[in-house]
Amino acid sequence: MTGPGPKRESGTLEDTITAGGLTLRPWSARDALAVCAAFAEPGMERQADIATEQDAADWIRARQDQWGAGSAYSFAVTSGPDLLGGVMVSSVERRHLTGWVSYWTVAASQGRGVATSACRLLAEWAFSDLGLFRLELGHRVNNPASCKVANRAGFAVEGLERQKLLYDGVRYDVERHARLATDPAR
Ligand SMILES: CC(C)(COP(=O)(O)OP(=O)(O)OC[C@H]1O[C@@H](n2cnc3c(N)ncnc32)[C@H](O)[C@@H]1OP(=O)(O)O)[C@@H](O)C(=O)NCCC(=O)NCCS
Repeated sequence: MTGPGPKRESGTLEDTITAGGLTLRPWSARDALAVCAAFAEPGMERQADIATEQDAADWIRARQDQWGAGSAYSFAVTSGPDLLGGVMVSSVERRHLTGWVSYWTVAASQGRGVATSACRLLAEWAFSDLGLFRLELGHRVNNPASCKVANRAGFAVEGLERQKLLYDGVRYDVERHARLATDPAR
């Protein structure tokens, strides 16, 4: 997605970021139904354990608590009334100014550059508003779509973490990417 640069409404950490037809905003209790539907989609089972609307409401409350505590910042990615996905910077560490980035999109929004644009916007926000210097992310090597998102959003490959994750008795290699505040803008 292309378009004008990010525009901030409030200038505070309660920011809503709007650019290129996307709006990134903090989660609201009103998102519970849409969150429940999103996490029921194939491929999302490892992102969170959400089976009911109450689970979704609890998940949203946990994201709001993290935002309040300054430990993680999770945004709904929307277009008008539609929930397209989510992006988050978590494990915010203020001694070394680092954070961990993750993203997902609903099936109907995939393959349109939504995750790439949202990840880019999140990274720029984390550098400018949170003052972080290094953002990391990792994806299983059998997730090429996530790898494309990372590369296009300016996260350079740093190496392979061998057999880092264990799901259903199978271990997975994870490729680590990172973007620095001093890396060229994407
Ligand atoms: C990974 C994910 C976030 C990508 O979201 P998205 O909005 O479709 O991402 P984008 O459209 O910005 O880019 C995806 C790119 O990967 C490509 N892609 C999709 N599936 C692919 C596959 N199996 N092999 C290779 N490329 C693939 C898309 O075609 C697109 O590239 P293109 O623009 O050249 O066509 C989304 O699929 C998702 O939420 N998956 C489930 C959760 C997840 O895996 N999150 C990441 C955890 S590390």
